[in-house]
Amino acid sequence: MPILSLSGITKTFGAVAALTGIDLDVEAGEVVAIVGDNGAGKSTLVKILSGVHAADSGTITFEGGQAHIATPADAHRLGIATVFQDLALCENLNVIENLFLGQELRALRLDDVAMEVRSWELLRQLSAKIPSVRTPVASLSGGQRQTVAIARSLLADPKVVILDEPTAALGVAQTAEVLNLIERLRDRGLGVIMISHNMADVKAVADKVAVLRLGRNNGTFAVGEVSQEDIIAAITGATDNVVTRRAQSQERLRQ
Ligand SMILES: Nc1ncnc2c1ncn2[C@@H]1O[C@H](COP(=O)(O)OP(=O)(O)OP(=O)(O)O)[C@@H](O)[C@H]1O
Ligand SMILES: [Mg+2]
Repeated sequence: MPILSLSGITKTFGAVAALTGIDLDVEAGEVVAIVGDNGAGKSTLVKILSGVHAADSGTITFEGGQAHIATPADAHRLGIATVFQDLALCENLNVIENLFLGQELRALRLDDVAMEVRSWELLRQLSAKIPSVRTPVASLSGGQRQTVAIARSLLADPKVVILDEPTAALGVAQTAEVLNLIERLRDRGLGVIMISHNMADVKAVADKVAVLRLGRNNGTFAVGEVSQEDIIAAITGATDNVVTRRAQSQERLRQ
């Protein structure tokens, strides 16, 4: 049974149909990549799952029960954590302060020791290569920042983690580190949704790839059984071009 299941999710912004009848299943211990061209509706889907936007219609099932995600607090309560593309880290604060921003541990006053211990624990679980948790985020690399943002999302012990373009701004070595990190989340039994434009990353870590095109589902594939070309064809709609339409209409004439 999937941990998260979307059925018939529809969202319009005025005259723009951003999403129409979207279905998606995510299982525990599975990495699902969502791919699609600019404007395909990927971010809108992420925002619906994280409580930024409410869907106009459709149902979201979480751990077998119908879920109502009207606010970010609802998503948080359910156990859905999102790492947005801009990461939302504070440059001037160090790693610990970023991890616990807004959710500081306090006994009677802020418990620095407990936060530092918890930070190291989390980063160790992720096998993260951060030199010191007292380093300001401004001096970390892109991959290290991504790691801090992912670690922060894990503090609430979520069941599903959503990553919006986690490798978009990264070099080769840092991308490899973040992909390792994603595998570690899967090994911990989390459901992972990864938005990506990079087919190599999708092929490297995703179990399943869901293609969105013009706000609609345009195919879901097991990553092991689909070629990069077929995924790209589904993204661009190359399977639905003038040549195939002409062939289809001639087929109909013959019938
Ligand atoms: N707040 C909004 N108000 C009006 N239209 C919106 C809003 N958010 C998204 N849209 C529209 O919905 C459609 C889907 O946008 P969305 O941002 O989800 O696409 P995307 O797949 O994330 O694209 P990209 O790869 O460029 O990030 C687009 O046509 C976009 O213009
Ligand atoms: Mg987007």
